[in-house]
Amino acid sequence: MRDNTTILLVVSWALTGFALGANAALVHPAPNEVARMVVGPEGSPFGRFIEGAATDISGNFYTANYGGDQSKNSLAMVTPNGTAHLIYRDRDPNTWLNSVRSIRPPPGYKPHHLRLLTGDVKGHRVLQLDYTTRTADNLVPHSPVVSVRCADPGMLQPNDIAVTSDGHVYLSGMNYTQDSTLGDGDLWWCSPEGKARRLDVMYRTNGIEVSPENRYLYLSEANNRNGSVVTNRIWRYHIDSFTGVKLRNQRPIRSLFVDFEKLDQTQAYDVDGIRCDSQGNLFVTRNGLGQVAVFDLKGVLKFRIHLPAIQGVTNLEFSGRDGRVLHIVGSCQDKANATKGCIARWTHDSTGLEWELLH
Ligand SMILES: *[C@@H]1O[C@H](CO)[C@@H](O)[C@H](O)[C@H]1NC(C)=O
Ligand SMILES: *[C@@H]1O[C@H](CO)[C@@H](O)[C@H](O)[C@H]1NC(C)=O
Ligand SMILES: *[C@@H]1O[C@H](CO)[C@@H](O)[C@H](O)[C@H]1NC(C)=O
Ligand SMILES: *[C@@H]1O[C@H](CO)[C@@H](O)[C@H](O)[C@H]1NC(C)=O
Repeated sequence: MRDNTTILLVVSWALTGFALGANAALVHPAPNEVARMVVGPEGSPFGRFIEGAATDISGNFYTANYGGDQSKNSLAMVTPNGTAHLIYRDRDPNTWLNSVRSIRPPPGYKPHHLRLLTGDVKGHRVLQLDYTTRTADNLVPHSPVVSVRCADPGMLQPNDIAVTSDGHVYLSGMNYTQDSTLGDGDLWWCSPEGKARRLDVMYRTNGIEVSPENRYLYLSEANNRNGSVVTNRIWRYHIDSFTGVKLRNQRPIRSLFVDFEKLDQTQAYDVDGIRCDSQGNLFVTRNGLGQVAVFDLKGVLKFRIHLPAIQGVTNLEFSGRDGRVLHIVGSCQDKANATKGCIARWTHDSTGLEWELLH
């Protein structure tokens, strides 16, 4: 998610258009990969708040905001052939689902059963959806058993969530203000038992991901000054199953992984969703820039994936029958009427981490 108000969205769209025109040579080096559109603006069932990204074991893809802008309380499944099906609508119309992850169902469940975790921005909670009625013949999930995985009124949102293979959930969140202050962003940890604890207090936080073997936690942080975004960085923590992340003097230890000002002067464009492939490379959406930046384990930029028709890229996940098809979501390019959500695909030579953990 980029902003939390419509006005800010419209203003930042206008600014984005201007900045891209004025600084095209500076901020837009030649893309070396290009994604292809699979759900375009024409007839898209998704609204511009399309967000969150997950896969299942069969390669179906999951994302939010099915049914247009007003349906922020919904999740849908997109099959490998591109057909979208509504799979969840929360009873409370105020629920705002902005993140989704797929985790292995517990022992005793069948392989085609499905367990999704989804973050509710307004409810300050993470829901768990268990689909145990799904059969191998009909993979469209319906009628989930819904439970609250964790919640705390002190959470700023959650904006996005990440999960270790042993059930530790991490949450980012932000309060989008003209001038960021410490506390406009947070990092929360929910233990496998559902206990929620705030781990860090920062400028506004957004993209969040766990690396292979549950070693690192990546978290993006951005800072606003006088209404402009002036920094975008990715931090790296060491995961610790007793304290959430490793601490020194009761404070989380983190190191700078990428600073977009130093990298390519694109610090004015938010990092949004982040995902790892099974090798630990990091796929980072750049909201407003129409790009995914790909980093290796050392934080070295490998290449970029350009999205010809999705400027406001919000999230991404590997899916598809072989787990190598990166699905990238965001609001459609059409600025005259940016009311639709779009989905693009790009095929990798490795599988995604989530897909790998489900197998
Ligand atoms: C796509 O998959 C769905 C199953 O979800 C199926 O109903 C539909 O017929 C398929 N469409 C095409 C064009 O293959
Ligand atoms: C968000 O920021 C505004 C402006 O600084 C402040 O009034 C409000 O209390 C903040 N909200 C939260 C939940 O911290
Ligand atoms: C803040 O932004 C406003 C409007 O863009 C501008 O008029 C003002 O000079 C800026 N203030 C500072 C301290 O940069
Ligand atoms: C934008 O698209 C929506 C949904 O398709 C439509 O209802 C609306 O009339 C369109 N607005 C304009 C200005 O074209």
